[in-house]
Amino acid sequence: MKNYKPIYHKSAKGILHGGDYNPDQWLRYPEIINEDFDLMQKANCQTFTIGMFSWSQLEPEEGVYHLEWLDSIIKRIGDMEGSVILATPSGARPAWLSRKYPEVLRTDAHRQKQLHGLRHNHCFTSPVYREKTQEFNRLLANRYKDNPTVIMWHISNEYSGECHCDLCQEAFRSWLQKKYQTLEELNHAWWTNFWSHQYSDWSEIESPSPIGEHMVHGMNIDWKRFVTDQTISFYENETVPFRELTPDIPITTNFMSRNPEMLPFHALDYDKFAKHVDVISWDSYPCWHHPAFTMDELASRVSFENDYFRSLKNGQSFMIMEMTPSLVNWVPYNKMKKKNVHELSALQNVADGSDSILYFQWRQSRGSSEKFHGAVVDHTGTDQTRVFQEVAALGGRLNNLSEVPGARTNTEVAIVYDVENDWLIEDAQALANETKKYPETVMAHYEAFWKRNIPTDVISLNHDLKQYKLIVAPMLYKITEEHAKKLETFVEHGGTLVTTYFSGRVNENDLTYLGGFPGPLRSLLGIWAEEIDTLYPTEESVFKYKDVPFKVHDYIETIHPETADVLAMYEEERTPVITKNQYGTGAAFYLSGRTDRTFHEHFYKEVVKDLQIKSDLPELVMNDGHFIRIRHRKNERTVFYFLQNFSNERKSGYLTMPLTDAETDEEIVGEICFKPFETRILKVNME
Ligand code: GLA
Ligand code: ZN
Repeated sequence: MKNYKPIYHKSAKGILHGGDYNPDQWLRYPEIINEDFDLMQKANCQTFTIGMFSWSQLEPEEGVYHLEWLDSIIKRIGDMEGSVILATPSGARPAWLSRKYPEVLRTDAHRQKQLHGLRHNHCFTSPVYREKTQEFNRLLANRYKDNPTVIMWHISNEYSGECHCDLCQEAFRSWLQKKYQTLEELNHAWWTNFWSHQYSDWSEIESPSPIGEHMVHGMNIDWKRFVTDQTISFYENETVPFRELTPDIPITTNFMSRNPEMLPFHALDYDKFAKHVDVISWDSYPCWHHPAFTMDELASRVSFENDYFRSLKNGQSFMIMEMTPSLVNWVPYNKMKKKNVHELSALQNVADGSDSILYFQWRQSRGSSEKFHGAVVDHTGTDQTRVFQEVAALGGRLNNLSEVPGARTNTEVAIVYDVENDWLIEDAQALANETKKYPETVMAHYEAFWKRNIPTDVISLNHDLKQYKLIVAPMLYKITEEHAKKLETFVEHGGTLVTTYFSGRVNENDLTYLGGFPGPLRSLLGIWAEEIDTLYPTEESVFKYKDVPFKVHDYIETIHPETADVLAMYEEERTPVITKNQYGTGAAFYLSGRTDRTFHEHFYKEVVKDLQIKSDLPELVMNDGHFIRIRHRKNERTVFYFLQNFSNERKSGYLTMPLTDAETDEEIVGEICFKPFETRILKVNME
């Protein structure tokens, strides 16, 4: 039985709408704070994240606390029946703390100790910082534990980065000792006989550095794993008072993506981190109208990220903790969103599984680096701006969707993105640095499903695979014996796997498989991959698949079928391009070259048809050349369909079965039209 409960505390309702609110910057301007409370209601905003960067206002001197202003803000939000996501302040520390306890300052990979300043830059190991942050969090937990306005704890902000100080070196060595037990084991796993890199004492090990060791790949990956574990342990230390005093208030921390290309964030392993949070939340900043992408391409990347974050907790809805209501101020070109694109982008997140639309930021700051970052309220301080009115209108629509939170998406297809694989491919001195593009390749395969309205999950192979009919795992460079077995079992029992060139090369220590690639996937795929050719950007190769010509770029692997059937050969007949191996009651495909969008659309269309994979809303027939993106979310009573026009043109089609408009309850059948960038939300009630 699926759980459709909303993810936030029971005192909140509907889709949360609001965002980061920094009254701590305006304590000298009470009239501005009064204005905020007037405007919040007009903007249909009810949920505010506060306290994130307030430490120096809350504890201006060590042990001197000023929490009255926070009490008053929380009370005022409560009085308007709003909710507070209360953040812990560890993301930015007061100057007195750095001055008095310099160990909290981070040391970079060049072994240079940083001065006080900026934010997100503390040592994760420092016992003092751990003690200070936990102490502060205990104060918050005690003070607000019975306050129903506080619906969630937001731990710190966008954890990232690494510290190379002496404390961290010691912690890294202990982590390694625990993992390997003996230096002999470590030396073998890291292949340290290469270039005479053997360690003879634990104290000789130093974290990777541009001025020292950074080419022992086994060490590099262990360091990244350590950084994730150390960050999680810092986070866990922050959560202790909340777990103890407020067990009913869920805990989150905001995850990220890599901007502006919208690639998965890979400084931390979120797959691991996800187990430690109650709710996944993330900060989404797509650069709409970026000339490198069409709207569909970028939207597909956004959905990829949403699917990834939703899949981290097996389909449980997630939260958009930050998005901009208008523009950001930190990309090379800080472009505004065109009319209706804010609404489109926000509702795409809801369609993909978000139960909130929260902004950075409610009001533009008056000074410092983010004063020109977009906000619901700008420096004019009025509800008359375009941005304010778009936000208020969206809030009105979200108010009609109070049944959506908790609703889930059924998926039969999983796309594999593995962050460790990303690390290792990036580190590998092979292929071409410019065109390795592991995450881009995964996203390129994903796009074919997005364009067909096939609901997808984005997972690592640590996830349960049973629910899927199809798994697409491009460039599976790293594969553990255990994951290979899992894939074998999946295919043996009827599943279909698609993988590509540059798979099955190394194990979890980045040690290559001996005896023929793709290593432990060889019998499942029924091929031997002998060598791989890197093409110059000016080169390409062609092949025909069922009489249609396609192109290959960047990489061509020479493969030899063993038990697999060859479905296509390159024109020069040098090696197969596509093979299919029947295995148990399922099948495994191998694509030996880097194929493109046209091929993916063609190929996956067939695969999806053969496997009878369901697409969303088959009752909608679009007019020729018209595309509408559709996603469903479903609970015990209702299926909601989000239909979105990502183009700047009118689109139309017709519905062959009557559906209900989820916002007006009107019945819709026959012709259905979409204005530029319009979203319509339909529903079916189940008996
Ligand atoms: C991040 C941070 C916010 C703010 C925004 C600006 O997501 O969490 O505090 O700096 O970026 O886009
Ligand atoms: Zn440190």
